[in-house]
Amino acid sequence: MPRRLLIAPSILSADFAQLGTQIHEVEAAGADWIHVDVMDGHFAPNLSMGPVVVEACRRVTRLPLDVHLMVEQPARFLEPFARAGADHLTVHIEADPRVDQIVRSIRELGLRAGVSLNPSTPPEALAEVLPLVDVVLVMSVNPGYSGQQFMEAVLPKIRTLRKWIDEGKGTAVIEVDGGIDSTTAPLAAGAGAEVFVAAKAVFGHPQGIRAGVHALREALALAHA
Ligand code: DX5
Ligand code: ZN
Repeated sequence: MPRRLLIAPSILSADFAQLGTQIHEVEAAGADWIHVDVMDGHFAPNLSMGPVVVEACRRVTRLPLDVHLMVEQPARFLEPFARAGADHLTVHIEADPRVDQIVRSIRELGLRAGVSLNPSTPPEALAEVLPLVDVVLVMSVNPGYSGQQFMEAVLPKIRTLRKWIDEGKGTAVIEVDGGIDSTTAPLAAGAGAEVFVAAKAVFGHPQGIRAGVHALREALALAHA
């Protein structure tokens, strides 16, 4: 049974002067999740957005808000983002070795729990926690900025995670984030990814947001044909 492939536009590249309108546009274009990239300027070099932006997104869409915490001490931020309306909270395994406890806390808040791996982190790093999570977010760029080049070196990691999950190590979906466009999305899908984060390919598409989502959807449909 082929897995349904989901598109998660990242608002990191949205025009924040018209964020609500652009979220309506991605929703109308058929996006499945809204990916919110939270960076603290320490764990990731960029400083991006906080709970107040999730609150604003919550007011304009019913799509799942897929919050990606690229922050140090992520345990400090679980409740504020839960209160703001997040549906998924994903933390980096590199940010806190007690990630199993953090995953349990996220679940206790009633949210879906994700763990993320930077490109240089091997899949073995999450072998213990994999059965506990709902989402595994594989970074295909080093966290920080939109518009970076997709790192094909992460494809074997996606294949390994796909194999482990298909062998029964938990039920997590594999999400990929960074440099995803209509060329790289099929590569990640072919390796076993199921959710595709895209900032520049959607919000920076020359023909606009709707064209950006549709281009990804078509590329993924062809990959799965
Ligand atoms: C960390 C962010 C970005 C973003 C994707 O850098 O997580 O990877 O979501 O940006 P694009 O799709 O423009 O590479
Ligand atoms: Zn992200």
